[in-house]
Amino acid sequence: MHAQAHEADAADPSVADLIAARPHLTMHPMDGLVLEDVPLNAIADALGTPVWVYGAGTMRARLAELQHAVADLPVHIHYAVKANDHLAVLKIFAHGGAGADVVSEGEFLRARKAGIAAENIVFSGVGKTVGELRLAIGEGVGQINVESAAELAMISTVATALGKTAPVALRINPDVDAGTHAKITTGRADNKFGIPYSDAAALYAHAATLPGVAPVGIALHIGSQILSLGPYRAAYARAAEMVRALRAAGQTVSRVDCGGGLGIGYRDEPGASPTAFAGALRAAFGGLDVQLMIEPGRWLVGPAGMLLSSVVLTKADERFAVIDAAMNDLVRPAMYDAWHAIVPLAAGNAVGAVRPVDVVGPVCESGDTFARARALPSLAAGDRVALLDAGAYGAVMSSTYNARPNAPIALVDGARWATIRARQTHADLWAAESVPTFLDGRIG
Ligand SMILES: Cc1ncc(COP(=O)(O)O)c(C=O)c1O
Repeated sequence: MHAQAHEADAADPSVADLIAARPHLTMHPMDGLVLEDVPLNAIADALGTPVWVYGAGTMRARLAELQHAVADLPVHIHYAVKANDHLAVLKIFAHGGAGADVVSEGEFLRARKAGIAAENIVFSGVGKTVGELRLAIGEGVGQINVESAAELAMISTVATALGKTAPVALRINPDVDAGTHAKITTGRADNKFGIPYSDAAALYAHAATLPGVAPVGIALHIGSQILSLGPYRAAYARAAEMVRALRAAGQTVSRVDCGGGLGIGYRDEPGASPTAFAGALRAAFGGLDVQLMIEPGRWLVGPAGMLLSSVVLTKADERFAVIDAAMNDLVRPAMYDAWHAIVPLAAGNAVGAVRPVDVVGPVCESGDTFARARALPSLAAGDRVALLDAGAYGAVMSSTYNARPNAPIALVDGARWATIRARQTHADLWAAESVPTFLDGRIG
């Protein structure tokens, strides 16, 4: 007996609908769920679960779709490394012609290791350290997006000491509500990001007088998982207005970095349309003669990744399915209340009557819940499921909480697949730890 009614949301899309909406996935009667041309069971058999799987062909196709949509505009794509920073993923986008948007020394080094030229890298982020600036400027970074007057001064000092001139764009805060989750909105005046709109013109003029910096334009990024164009239109109109005002004041403005944020359909909501997004860029900047840059992350990689997991057991009359993946692997449901599609790997499990199931992980937190009262076909111990659309802000946000090693990663490319990250061992977890000798011999 449960105190609360436990009813499935009748609006939950069916397994068949979820698969039909994702062209990279098919359900094969014998092989079960197939990504591109690889049955996911083959990967789970070989590597165990939990395991991440990414589709290289899917990533390439998405990059090509975005490039096609903006083909008539002077747009360069800088993939936002934070969404998924695996070297193989970076290589795929680099081969496709994208640069990188990075926010840390580690991301800069990853991008460089994947073969992305420093001049094709944009360095964003609200708290770049002197060490990070030294590295990026020393290597000839393509652009630094400046978030404050204090940072501008740091860049000038570092670049001057290195005998370099750093191309900088001022990240303006357009004070626009992106209409997304509070934790991923970044363009409102009360967010920590960017330079207040009203201060930007004076700071730009100041930048033009500083040694070691060359102001090349402005940047903005209003948030993530944005599904409607209204916030983009509003923010880009303000950016275009800023370009005109700066030019009227005699400044040179040759670039506008329009940020990322394009949303994807996690449930049954349509994802952001690249063609419509391109329309918003064209409307705002079409006649301005500026080089445009965009920094998409989630839209390129989100749908191309998934997390495979096995049911450990069911309990409370099958109300709960406890799976072997947890919030330490995929934190988005716990952190953002994110909805991720959950699809059985076996074709036989994907049909039949649905019942409301809470899909939970084994971590000792109630927040370790992937879905509540999800309409799912019956699941039993040992059955496998895929948590879909986990390619962005998935593995990169993993932790080892509860001493759970990081899951391995496999990359599918058409009919081929390879392991691109081994499962972390328990010994890896404490490899960097030491116990000081003064603790020796103490009891309790
Ligand atoms: C400056 C900047 N650019 C790009 C992105 C990528 O956003 P998304 O993955 O939503 O496209 C982010 C992420 O929040 C960001 O902070």
